[in-house]
Amino acid sequence: MTAVSIRNVSMRFAGKKNGDSIRVLENIDAEVAHGEFVCIVGPSGCGKSTLLNIVAGFLKATSGDVLVEGEPVIAPDPRRIFVFQENGVFPWLNVHENVGFGLRKQTRAQRDQTIARYIDMVSLAGFENAYPHELSGGMRQRVEIARALAANPDIIYMDEPFGALDFLTRLKMRADLVRIWQSEKKTILFVTHDIEEAVQLADRVLVMSNRPATIQEVVDVDLPRPRHLDSPGYLEKRDRIFKVMGMSLRVGETAT
Ligand SMILES: Nc1ncnc2c1ncn2[C@@H]1O[C@H](COP(=O)(O)OP(=O)(O)O)[C@@H](O)[C@H]1O
Ligand SMILES: [Mg+2]
Repeated sequence: MTAVSIRNVSMRFAGKKNGDSIRVLENIDAEVAHGEFVCIVGPSGCGKSTLLNIVAGFLKATSGDVLVEGEPVIAPDPRRIFVFQENGVFPWLNVHENVGFGLRKQTRAQRDQTIARYIDMVSLAGFENAYPHELSGGMRQRVEIARALAANPDIIYMDEPFGALDFLTRLKMRADLVRIWQSEKKTILFVTHDIEEAVQLADRVLVMSNRPATIQEVVDVDLPRPRHLDSPGYLEKRDRIFKVMGMSLRVGETAT
């Protein structure tokens, strides 16, 4: 059985004038297998967040269906966690308490063990008592990822989770996420407007068009990990996606 199945999903929002409507998504079909890492890329404003919010149950599609584990999605479900771009952590809780937030049902000892494991996994050991305002943006994102993992969800939805970070931190976070995903075997559906990020992370990249967005192409990224940003295989996949999105790169230009 597939983990996520998006079937003929279309979305319109009401426009400013009466009866006006904005077509955002048009007949989107996609599937995500168990344990798969799928990225959705597309230009800003094309409807990526809208699609992820529909899949996660925060928004209702105008038409079409989303099935997760074979069941129609009608509302958010705690078995699936959403990681936002920023401000996902609770400012009044320290790192330990943030990571343990969803673990109320466990005993104290179990909780502490789980929290320590994930704090260690995101390389924040030693910062257990720090509050979010004492951390850098990259560290706060690590807290949020640790919290998402500690809750042991089946699926993690990520909407440009590294978008607010500086370039080097972003590179490190991508590498860490791949390593964690490989050891935890979660299903991840990850939205980004950054083509290079998508090629570095994903098993498959769904390339969306401009609004009203369709899925223009599905690119299999069958490259070994960790991936090198200058390997020929990587550049070929990247350039393919640029081409689908109607952009071309000349030698020497960078993509971001
Ligand atoms: N609640 C809403 N009401 C009206 N228009 C919306 C709403 N949410 C998003 N939109 C519009 O839908 C389009 C897609 O938005 P979004 O999904 O956020 O794009 P992306 O995440 O790809 O940048 C944009 O034009 C945006 O203005
Ligand atoms: Mg968005």
